[in-house]
Amino acid sequence: MRMLFVVMATVAAHLSSASEMYGTVRSPNFPEAYPRDTELRWNISVPRGYHVQLYFTHFDLEPSYLCEYDFVKVEVEEVVLGLFCGREESDTEQVPGMGALSSSNNLLSLLFHSDFSDQENHAGFLAHYAAVDVDECQERSDEEQLCDHFCHNFIGGYYCSCRYGYLLHTDNRTCRVECSGGVYRQRSGGFSSVDHPLPYPKSSDCSYSIQVEEGLVVELLFNPTFDVEDHPDLPCPYDYVQVIAGGKELGRYCGGRSPGRVVTKSHLVLVNFHTDDSGDNLGWSLTYTTTGSQCPVLLSPANGLLNPIQSEYSFRDHVLVTCLPGYKLRKGEEYLDHYQLDCQKDGSWSSDVPQCQKTGAGRSQ
Ligand SMILES: *[C@@H]1O[C@H](CO)[C@@H](O)[C@H](O)[C@H]1NC(C)=O
Ligand SMILES: *[C@@H]1O[C@H](CO)[C@@H](O)[C@H](O)[C@H]1NC(C)=O
Repeated sequence: MRMLFVVMATVAAHLSSASEMYGTVRSPNFPEAYPRDTELRWNISVPRGYHVQLYFTHFDLEPSYLCEYDFVKVEVEEVVLGLFCGREESDTEQVPGMGALSSSNNLLSLLFHSDFSDQENHAGFLAHYAAVDVDECQERSDEEQLCDHFCHNFIGGYYCSCRYGYLLHTDNRTCRVECSGGVYRQRSGGFSSVDHPLPYPKSSDCSYSIQVEEGLVVELLFNPTFDVEDHPDLPCPYDYVQVIAGGKELGRYCGGRSPGRVVTKSHLVLVNFHTDDSGDNLGWSLTYTTTGSQCPVLLSPANGLLNPIQSEYSFRDHVLVTCLPGYKLRKGEEYLDHYQLDCQKDGSWSSDVPQCQKTGAGRSQ
């Protein structure tokens, strides 16, 4: 046993120093007979982004049933790629032949074992290995996309790129969009997630700001087609649409059901859309409208008229007050033919409704 360990250590020191692009592995004393009672392991590593390809140019080990005496075992991280012995293929023994063995990653381990007896002399083996490029773009499983948009293989690695108009995220994998700073100042309008109704971009933070003049209030209407990545148990942990009005969060939405109508009571509304680095959901779209603040209903003065008469008045509405013939409006010390009231942005009228007084009575005083 002691001898066995000494041999192992020597070889290990020799081989595991650095990752090489190619090399050879041979049994001790090759092409002379290999020693008895020996166990040797070679851990081959090539740079990341490559496979190890190994093939034997000579193979001659003592044959035994299921290779239980002498053997060469080729493994990748404890998965056995091959167990070989003998010189020719038989029902129970396998020889490597001319076929190449390939690792699934950049590592390959080779174990040589000889037992105590060797009646005949066997020359052992000579093997060569080389680093072979991995085409990461081809090997990806469809479950987990290596690159969000495009994958490009090169020798020893790969990189991702994005469709025009997108930017590669710092994760070097997903494609984000620059989508902040949109300001909507019109009294009505609309917007949607980028590319809607196609899947929206990943790893992005979009913000849409509605800024209408004070005195108006914004109402949002999300269209029925709404699809934002959600979670069965947690509230919107991945992607979400957030509505902030007057500095306060009104709601955070995800899932497949449209939030529908959202009344904000504010003239400053921010719609934020946060997305994470996965998922293929179709997004959302909305329209918005604005209405003015409502002023209280007015009563006509006695012997007077309001024009126009409406069931509701809102910001920016004007009402003209006039009197029946023989009457004039009394405003302070003045007598007027007509007077205008304005519905103001805070929902109050610019003044009280003045009264109509008989003109004769005024003059006689
Ligand atoms: C080879 O790798 C195995 C598993 O990682 C390790 O246990 C062993 O010590 C290594 N042997 C040599 C010779 O480097
Ligand atoms: C992305 O790529 C750059 C440049 O190749 C590299 O410096 C950076 O570490 C990579 N980032 C990640 C998260 O892999």
